[in-house]
Amino acid sequence: MASKEIVTRVWIEPGCIVCDACETASPTVFHVTDDTCVIRPEALTPDFLKPISESVVDAAAECPVDVIKFETVTAEVGDEVAAPAEAGAGVVVAVAPAPVKAAAKSHDKPVPKQAEPVAAAVSKEAVQASMAGGGDPAIQALLRAATARGGSAGILRKASEIPESVQAMKRQNPSQLPPDARQAKVVEAAQKSKQNPDMQRRAFVGGAALAVGWVTFGVGTGVACGPAFLRFMMPNVLEEPDPRVRVGKLQRYAEMAPGEVNEDFKSQGIWMIRTEDRVAALNIICTHLGCIPNWLPNDRKFKCPCHGSGYQPDGINFEGPTPRPLERFRVYVEDGIIVVDKSKKYQYELGQWDMPGSYLEA
Ligand code: FES
Repeated sequence: MASKEIVTRVWIEPGCIVCDACETASPTVFHVTDDTCVIRPEALTPDFLKPISESVVDAAAECPVDVIKFETVTAEVGDEVAAPAEAGAGVVVAVAPAPVKAAAKSHDKPVPKQAEPVAAAVSKEAVQASMAGGGDPAIQALLRAATARGGSAGILRKASEIPESVQAMKRQNPSQLPPDARQAKVVEAAQKSKQNPDMQRRAFVGGAALAVGWVTFGVGTGVACGPAFLRFMMPNVLEEPDPRVRVGKLQRYAEMAPGEVNEDFKSQGIWMIRTEDRVAALNIICTHLGCIPNWLPNDRKFKCPCHGSGYQPDGINFEGPTPRPLERFRVYVEDGIIVVDKSKKYQYELGQWDMPGSYLEA
């Protein structure tokens, strides 16, 4: 029963100088890219590392900057392992180690190379078949370990397995890769985006689409908010309606009986009235607090519904709280039509009802 240090985990710490020494020593475990060195995905499992532990130890020993670290366990190899092969077989191949007995330990520094594990004889034909890329996978792995310094098996592996290994690494979830492998993937993706004209074209198209989107948003916002914005920027001018109201011919009102009221233009704030000898235009606003009185033809008075003020047909107040008569608007005839100008008012208490413009001769 023999014991052997078996590598169960290997990793690369920061500081790789990309010297190729590790891949030369253990090409199935290490892959040196243009920028760094990574652990191949398949080499992340203890089962893969067991038969090629020595090559990992060699790689760590060869590393000039000591960034290759690994953990080992001590395993005992069973009696089923055979003696060295017969003369002529030419190759010594390790077989599966016995169950692990010792606790795992980490190696910050490479451990000295140990003696070759107990080996079994393998036929020359099997080795040749494995070197040609076929045959037993276990034999192929051990051949790679045995020829880690650049033997023909390693060359065969490089030709047939590296592309698949790289593809496997690319397919792997980046979060499951060792730190250096993640960094290598990032660098590789950045280089590809620089070199790939199709990606550049897609980036350009994406940028152009974003720009078009923003322009469309800006134009749409301008169209929707433009009028409101312009109105906001304009001076805040109160636009009053035309104060002049054309109420018809003088004859129409001259024919009314004295004391009669025409309400045709009440909606425009005007009562046309007829007194003994005049036609005038009364303002319909109550002089108390601004309500609109009603004309009561049967009572022949204007009655305010708010506080009860009452006005005679000529507009003189006679009841209720209002302090003064209704107001009159300026009236004049233009082209045979009476025009009421509401911008000019006449007040009885000021003696203005006899002023020119406050009435028309009936
Ligand atoms: Fe007309 Fe008061 S508002 S009586």
